[in-house]
Amino acid sequence: MINIGVLISGGGSNLQSVIDNIKSGYINARIAVVISDNKNAYGLIRASEVEIDTETVDFPSFDHRSDYDAHIVAILKRYDVELVVLAGYMKVVTPVFIDAYKNKILNIHPALLPSFPGLHVQKKTLEYGAKFSGCTVHFVDEGVDTGPIIAQAVVPVLDDDTEESLSSRILKQEHKLYPLAIRLYTQNRLTIEGRRVMVSPPISHDERINIAPPHSSG
Ligand code: GAR
Repeated sequence: MINIGVLISGGGSNLQSVIDNIKSGYINARIAVVISDNKNAYGLIRASEVEIDTETVDFPSFDHRSDYDAHIVAILKRYDVELVVLAGYMKVVTPVFIDAYKNKILNIHPALLPSFPGLHVQKKTLEYGAKFSGCTVHFVDEGVDTGPIIAQAVVPVLDDDTEESLSSRILKQEHKLYPLAIRLYTQNRLTIEGRRVMVSPPISHDERINIAPPHSSG
């Protein structure tokens, strides 16, 4: 069974959906450690509630980004982590990290990449006037939200949407999309060809619908 390390910065509702989908048997993996750059992240409580080890790393106490990432990598190695899942982790990952976990780091982003990379993307989506948004799970490379795309889900933008309402509808889809992508990875079904990620065997109807809803979000 593969050891996963989850990195968070905040609420951890995506972490919760991974926890719930491991519990239901949808994902065959174990979360070895949850690491946060924010000691007040609610996701740390979610992890502790189910007795997952947690670590907090204080970003400002490092002189260089690469030292900070080397420290994170050391923790991941100590826990024998084989797959890194960024779940609302608000730090850019440096080459030290990417090289240590080449094509073994996944990220979820609340937009249909390559549109709206970076931060505050739901606000930017509304301001731009896009009619569809959604979420993307991708491998992490050296760029910001530029890695090969594994899966996407589309969410319509409604005329009366606010940043909050749009974010919350996208988040609901994230809670389905991330477990699906992690399942595909752990089953060794992903192959990267250039920028394209091929899935073999293809995603079935049953595995799309059998995703456990997170027991709580926020
Ligand atoms: C999610 O919408 C995730 O896609 C986004 O932060 C939120 C975290 O929610 N991530 C990014 O914007 C990464 N750049 P959560 O803490 O409840 O999982």
